[in-house]
Amino acid sequence: MDIEITKELKGDNIVIGMFEGEKIKIIEKMIKKKEFSGKEGEIQILNEKGRRILIIGLGSKKDFNSIKLRRFSAVGAKTLRKLGASEFTTNLNLTAKGGTKAVTEGIILGLYTFDKYKTKKEKIIKKVYLLSGDKQAIKKGKIIAESMNYARGLTNEPGSLLTPKEFAEEAKKLAKKYKMKIRIFDKRELEKMGFGSLLAVASGSKNEPRFVVIEYPKGKERIVLVGKGVTFDSGGLDIKPAQFMDSMKNDKAGATTVLGILRAAAELKVKKHIIGLLPLTENMPGSQAYKPGDILRAYNKKTIEITHTDAEGRLILADALAYAEKFRPQAIIDIATLTGAVIVALGYEFAGVLGNNQKLIDKIKIASQKSDERIWQLPLMEEHKKNMESKVADVKNSHGIEIGPGAIYGAAFLQNFVKGPWAHIDIAGTAWVPKDTEIYEKGSTGYGVSLMIEFLLM
Ligand code: BES
Ligand code: ZN
Ligand code: ZN
Repeated sequence: MDIEITKELKGDNIVIGMFEGEKIKIIEKMIKKKEFSGKEGEIQILNEKGRRILIIGLGSKKDFNSIKLRRFSAVGAKTLRKLGASEFTTNLNLTAKGGTKAVTEGIILGLYTFDKYKTKKEKIIKKVYLLSGDKQAIKKGKIIAESMNYARGLTNEPGSLLTPKEFAEEAKKLAKKYKMKIRIFDKRELEKMGFGSLLAVASGSKNEPRFVVIEYPKGKERIVLVGKGVTFDSGGLDIKPAQFMDSMKNDKAGATTVLGILRAAAELKVKKHIIGLLPLTENMPGSQAYKPGDILRAYNKKTIEITHTDAEGRLILADALAYAEKFRPQAIIDIATLTGAVIVALGYEFAGVLGNNQKLIDKIKIASQKSDERIWQLPLMEEHKKNMESKVADVKNSHGIEIGPGAIYGAAFLQNFVKGPWAHIDIAGTAWVPKDTEIYEKGSTGYGVSLMIEFLLM
């Protein structure tokens, strides 16, 4: 889709945003009759001389921001598509800081739909004209939103189709397109390398694991991004109840996000050396499955007692994080749908961030403000690490049955496998929406791409 700046109204469809108390000529009468007030979320569709005009109430001007602007841009685009429009002109952009980028992202994210497997497809909006804005911001917003949609498309793929092997093939395609370096390790190689933790998780499935190392080497500063790629999480032998298993094709969102970040970084020509590490596996309860009580050895030789087979994400990250040290990076950041507990703590709007280096976390917080992808820090202290000690091994993979801060314990486990500056981003609540929202349709959101691009641009 094309987004362009124009000086005059183009075409037959117009989206107008209006603040509370504002006066707009074409609806003067309606405002007088109190049929439209500009209240947040209010919508009116008018037909004027063959033109379709969609008016959206933006609420009070003083409380307006780029988060709302992104949302209303998505609503406008989706509403017009439903009415059959193929292009529109809009005055949205307005006064919010970062307005052009937010409008661009809102439109592209809002119009995304996963209809690959539907025989009846959605109509397409081909062109949008903005009545104000700047070209550079459109370009940046477009790259970010399209990279998010790329990640969403992969995450939304069913577990039976996007297996670890197929996922690795997708990474290869991306690497080829953007001339990135890639290495794909299969089960046999992983055995030789000592990836005992990833292999244990993979052991319950006929579909074998993969480990992908994909590099965008355009700069001196080395940043490793590790993405959890559980292509389906049944819970293993500690199997999940149906209502929690339903969405578990989504458990590969960390890995798809890392691919989305690499895509956007390449398009934006970011000047960093970015190394993506993707441990890819299913978590299944097959006859060879790993079992509660098992003790295994990770890549850094530490031993792990399995106390819960559904805490598999941290196990596959353990090998990848330990492997990351090989690159002697300035920072390691892992992105993972790690715990249901982070949803209890922070809900669906905020991801959790924890780590061993406050400077790094502070930088991620600033990137969060720049991108509008929201994040909140949770504490990670020595005391938390003690909870993950095991009687029979160096660590255990879940803290057990008593009530505790699960998102923190997940991070406390991971901390055993890193040495240098590291941050962990738990996206279990933000990676996926359980029902349609103003911006996102039910399914993957691509959360993390925009956040990390702002981080990488700092
Ligand atoms: N993939 C899940 C976490 C998850 C939950 C992601 C809901 C998205 C939505 C993860 O592997 C898991 O099952 N974690 C367990 C850990 C527990 C057994 C210590 C959890 O959070 O319950
Ligand atoms: Zn699990
Ligand atoms: Zn999982």
